[in-house]
Amino acid sequence: MHWYQVQMQFTLVLSFAICGLTQSGTSWDTVRLVPVEDPTQSPETSYRSEDDASFAIYSRNLSSVLGDKQTFYNDFMEGCRKAVMESGSDPDVVCDKDDGHRMRMNVYQPQSVVNYTKTGFAKVKTPPEVFRLLKEFWDLNKEKSYVEWSGPTPYHNNWEVPPTVIRVDNTTLETGGIELQRAISNAAKALMEEWTGQRLSYSSVYGIRIYHNQSVLSPHVDRLPLVSSAIINVAQDVDEDWVLEVYDHDGVAHNVTMEPGDMVLYESHSVIHGRPFPLQGKFFANCFVHFEPLGPLDQSEISVNNGDLPPYLIPGSQWEAEYRLKHPDGWSVLSDPMSLIQSGDLPLLRYVGRNKPEVLHKPDKIDWRPIHEVCRQGNLEILKYLVEQDADIHAVTKAYGNSEPLDIAKRYLASDDPVIEYLEEKLRAEESDHSEL
Ligand SMILES: *[C@@H]1O[C@H](CO)[C@@H](O)[C@H](O)[C@H]1NC(C)=O
Ligand SMILES: *[C@@H]1O[C@H](CO)[C@@H](O)[C@H](O)[C@H]1NC(C)=O
Ligand SMILES: *[C@@H]1O[C@H](CO)[C@@H](O)[C@H](O)[C@H]1NC(C)=O
Ligand SMILES: *[C@@H]1O[C@H](CO)[C@@H](O)[C@H](O)[C@H]1NC(C)=O
Ligand SMILES: *[C@@H]1O[C@H](CO)[C@@H](O)[C@H](O)[C@H]1NC(C)=O
Repeated sequence: MHWYQVQMQFTLVLSFAICGLTQSGTSWDTVRLVPVEDPTQSPETSYRSEDDASFAIYSRNLSSVLGDKQTFYNDFMEGCRKAVMESGSDPDVVCDKDDGHRMRMNVYQPQSVVNYTKTGFAKVKTPPEVFRLLKEFWDLNKEKSYVEWSGPTPYHNNWEVPPTVIRVDNTTLETGGIELQRAISNAAKALMEEWTGQRLSYSSVYGIRIYHNQSVLSPHVDRLPLVSSAIINVAQDVDEDWVLEVYDHDGVAHNVTMEPGDMVLYESHSVIHGRPFPLQGKFFANCFVHFEPLGPLDQSEISVNNGDLPPYLIPGSQWEAEYRLKHPDGWSVLSDPMSLIQSGDLPLLRYVGRNKPEVLHKPDKIDWRPIHEVCRQGNLEILKYLVEQDADIHAVTKAYGNSEPLDIAKRYLASDDPVIEYLEEKLRAEESDHSEL
């Protein structure tokens, strides 16, 4: 794929955005989907995923398109095995089996999922508010990063040069916490929705990961539900560009370079991405933001495949069985409103309620229902919504020796919490109804 095709894709994205203006009322200024010029270096060599040119993409037998990369890959795996043996684990499992799984995912997951953009990736400027929040967090806490993964994995040469991290939700760090995490995800979401044309739900905003000299990241696709994703370059000190290698939807390789402030949008569930060429320099600090699609932006209904699969997984595909193994109850957005209550996502809960109302009252093994969870969390708006949707304010859970929602609220919340006031008022109203009879 060449630059003019990338440009074409931007034209599509931009015209979509302009159509979106009248529909959703998003203003162009708040979204700022400003493409950076020439997002790719024009490929020096044109190679594809099946060439296994830069690293083992589909198979351990590399081609010589980029010279002898086989030795580099073999040394990488040998490094993994050695580190795993030293830690007393089984290298056949931790290195070879896991690396085999990485390649199986590269082969089967992309063909089993829906793509929402033509090319699969784009480079833009980070929305200024997102970058400001991240830069501030970085400047205050960059000395406090710590090693992220303890054990070796075939995804990264962390036995040699472990990445370090500062998590945005870490409340011991200045400005860190759930509010910062929400602010970043909310600010990034509008732009990602515009790019994909999909209504998105938050999957993860983890933190700033810092890669160090000689880092290598094996080419991979992300596990579901990490679908619509962005990498933000927060800061770097490199001797040469540390390229992100991505394979577009046609399978062609591109080297993407990033400066601080740049943001690469990519469909991380289907676009194979990695950094197979070792970092040359001191460090490279990135933030990752992930969302999952719920359905088209211009439809208020949530899209579900085959009754319980997410809209981005193709029913009957190779990966459906794999997904069902990990998600025996199907798509978690539909089967588990608890996480929506925990994240306080009332709009999405309403969305689920319109489409699968029974989920709003679903008890678990100890008859713990969404109404109990909201009384534990103390979210009045969500409680009111559940009651409007006929949630039973007397529902008994086996937790704490048969408790009703008010018992749970009193256990977890301050005595003057509006949730308690609201429930007591409802109960008083019921009593006076009775006495009038
Ligand atoms: C990406 O960069 C590497 C290392 O500089 C180079 O060998 C390779 O040919 C480049 N790939 C493309 C697609 O330009
Ligand atoms: C590796 O690939 C080459 C050609 O790309 C082929 O000649 C060779 O037999 C393959 N080796 C193995 C072990 O599959
Ligand atoms: C939060 O940051 C501090 C300082 O770097 C670190 O020691 C601690 O382990 C972090 N906590 C979590 C949960 O990441
Ligand atoms: C989505 O893109 C991947 C490559 O990124 C491709 O292999 C796959 O076939 C595409 N999916 C569909 C349904 O076209
Ligand atoms: C990075 O590592 C290489 C190889 O060991 C070394 O030559 C180079 O000086 C290092 N760069 C920095 C900035 O430490």
